[in-house]
Amino acid sequence: MRLRGRKGIREAIERQRDLIVLEPAIYKGKWAEVFGNDNPIHVELGMGKGRFISEMSKLNPHINFIGVDMYDELIRRASEKVRIAHGIEESETDVSLENIRLALFNIERIEEVFDANELQRIYLNFSDPWPKKKHARRRLTHAGFVNKYKEVLNGKGQIHFKTDSRSLFEFSLNSFSDLGLRMRNISLDLHGGFEEGFNPDHVMTEYETKFAGRGMNIFRCEVVIGEEALAEHLDSLQGEQQS
Ligand SMILES: C[S@@+](CC[C@H](N)C(=O)[O-])C[C@H]1O[C@@H](n2cnc3c(N)ncnc32)[C@H](O)[C@@H]1O
Repeated sequence: MRLRGRKGIREAIERQRDLIVLEPAIYKGKWAEVFGNDNPIHVELGMGKGRFISEMSKLNPHINFIGVDMYDELIRRASEKVRIAHGIEESETDVSLENIRLALFNIERIEEVFDANELQRIYLNFSDPWPKKKHARRRLTHAGFVNKYKEVLNGKGQIHFKTDSRSLFEFSLNSFSDLGLRMRNISLDLHGGFEEGFNPDHVMTEYETKFAGRGMNIFRCEVVIGEEALAEHLDSLQGEQQS
């Protein structure tokens, strides 16, 4: 394996300006132009090594994906995964990675990077649990963050959240509920439980593979934010109750 120092990592990400966005705030309100279409934009906040976002972007060509992390090395590693998933060599630049970008920034600044209504979905996958109470504000499902997500999500907006941390999950359900948000498809054991509960096409993250492989429960829920998404959800519930 080739080892890279900090300078080498920077050079590797600088070379991939087709894929990696180092100054994402420039594109606030203009992400549709970056992708060259009006397809929905789904963002993974804290993508780590990028397994999930790279596979999702390959499987869903009509959705635009943005993977976010704040560390150069993770962005570089994710870029390798994206290129492998899309069958593109690192040496190739200006390639048509039409539906994915990787953005380097701290999620605390999300409102500087995305405009109101610019996103359709936010994935929070295995976010750091920050177990100490004094660090609660750093949890990505803290009301301070969720209120920012509400701003940037559009009428169809949703948050899809999964974690191995029971305490983060409990905290998050309370946080969503305190904000008056509707949750659905709550699972306390995503990979087990009822047979119909697990979708075999479900795309796993690095952390999920590791923790589920150890037999740990994976907790998951969806938060319905946008008005249109909420109306659709309520309609589908009515349909179920009538049938
Ligand atoms: C525990 S890892 C999970 C990675 C991946 N989602 C997975 O499930 O395998 C959490 C990731 O979130 C990133 N992260 C945490 N806080 C962040 C922040 N404020 N801004 C940007 N990235 C952040 C970390 O760098 C790390 O890569």
